[in-house]
Amino acid sequence: MPEAALVERLTTGLTPPIATQPVTIVIFGGAGDLAHRKLLPALYNLYVDGLLPPRFAVVGVGRKDTSDPEYREFAADGVKKFSRRPPEAATWQHFAESVYFGGAALEDASSFAPLGARLDTIEHERDLPGNRIYYLAIPPSMFVPTVKSLQRARFVGPPGGTTFARLIVEKPIGNDLESARAIDDAIAEVFDERQIYRIDHYLGKETVQNILVLRFANSIFEPVFNRRYIDHIQITVAEEEGVGTRAGYYDHAGALRDMVQNHMLQLLTLVAMEPPRSLDAEVVRDRKLDAILSLRPIEGAAVDAHVVRAQYTAGFNMGTPVPGYRQEPGVDPNSRTETFVALKAYIDDWRWAGTPFFLRTGKRLPKRASEISIEFREVPPILFNADPASPLDPTVLSIRIQPDEGFALLINSKIPGPRIRIYPVKMDFRYGATFGNASPEAYERLLLDVMAGDQTLFMRRDAVEAAWRWVTPILARWADEKTAPIPTYPGGEWGPPEAARLIASAGAKWRNP
Ligand code: BG6
Repeated sequence: MPEAALVERLTTGLTPPIATQPVTIVIFGGAGDLAHRKLLPALYNLYVDGLLPPRFAVVGVGRKDTSDPEYREFAADGVKKFSRRPPEAATWQHFAESVYFGGAALEDASSFAPLGARLDTIEHERDLPGNRIYYLAIPPSMFVPTVKSLQRARFVGPPGGTTFARLIVEKPIGNDLESARAIDDAIAEVFDERQIYRIDHYLGKETVQNILVLRFANSIFEPVFNRRYIDHIQITVAEEEGVGTRAGYYDHAGALRDMVQNHMLQLLTLVAMEPPRSLDAEVVRDRKLDAILSLRPIEGAAVDAHVVRAQYTAGFNMGTPVPGYRQEPGVDPNSRTETFVALKAYIDDWRWAGTPFFLRTGKRLPKRASEISIEFREVPPILFNADPASPLDPTVLSIRIQPDEGFALLINSKIPGPRIRIYPVKMDFRYGATFGNASPEAYERLLLDVMAGDQTLFMRRDAVEAAWRWVTPILARWADEKTAPIPTYPGGEWGPPEAARLIASAGAKWRNP
């Protein structure tokens, strides 16, 4: 498509989210890692793209005494190191004038009075009406105390006032169903569900949003997206990194809580959900909830047959020796925390009954790659597939979530020549090649949506709790099995042999990205 036509097409689509109302973004945990790596760079990029409202302020909140210039330095450092664009001096200067720091101890409502006064002053100076977005970029143990402090210090007016207050909550929301409910209950005392934006950053990724476009903006996929045509679906979210510096959190969480309960179930939901009747947030979220609720429970002894957990041992990363999980700094040397999970799930609805979904995620795998492979049923054993000794490869649609974003259709084709020889060829679409390289970061889209008041890409309370309801019996089974040995895999390999056996039970093999 000529570039002008492409631009025309890109600009005449559905209306993009537009953040028009002046806003103050208050980041609790403003001096933390998430703010440094993701939030401040995302806000800077939104600013460069002209997507922030005409008037705004960003206020990082933390315990440590920090001046505005010091905080701006911290923000500049984050942008230099982690932004998809390097800071450009003049633009940065303009943006940085809207960045401030406010001190407060989050569990101490009395320290919110000076913070409130500071926010009022900033808003007065910048002619901001008091629309506020409160971002909980803090450890989950601080969610409830912080929300209580917001309430006690009267930071949140009743819904329906002239200004808005919105709350962004990061995962993990809870540790199991019960703790998730307790957090949700405490938040619900202060914020209405329509004010709450629960982030699953996978939903902000371009390729993840494209799953619904692929399914519902093309006529060839949806008619075959069901049990009659699809043999099974695989979802792999592989990470090359080990636990890094996050052992304090991860050793109590593990891969099932850290990745499956949220990111992977979201991917599964988008692949499996029924077409929503509109793109309204509630309609889309209702259909997604249906998919989670249709997941067949895995409980008791079924856990042993359907779920594999494992831990990495010493191995290699790009030829360099790396330690095993139990030898990582901060990890309990007897830890039973899983760094890898593979599982077989079924969605018991009319569309998918009997079609297995295989999910696999792990740290210290050979590479960072997330991919969904939809493997179609084999053709009948006649004509080109008549020889049982050399069956045809199945048709596969692979959706590459990251890094090499795109999708590919693997289809059988005749190799040129006098004989009939068949080879699977790839029809490949790459975002980088078609649209250029700089896809916005997930957090850019998500922050923009919060400013625009669009909840579509955020997790509703019932969905978070339904996901916990599904994973909690698996956690419970593992908690009961205190002595059963946990399978291992050497760092740099694709998980333990048990995972290969799990998928072999359906006559399939993992497709390594
Ligand atoms: C986070 C998990 O939610 O997602 C991390 O807590 C994981 O353990 C990360 O590394 C992966 O995100 P991404 O965007 O790098 O795939």
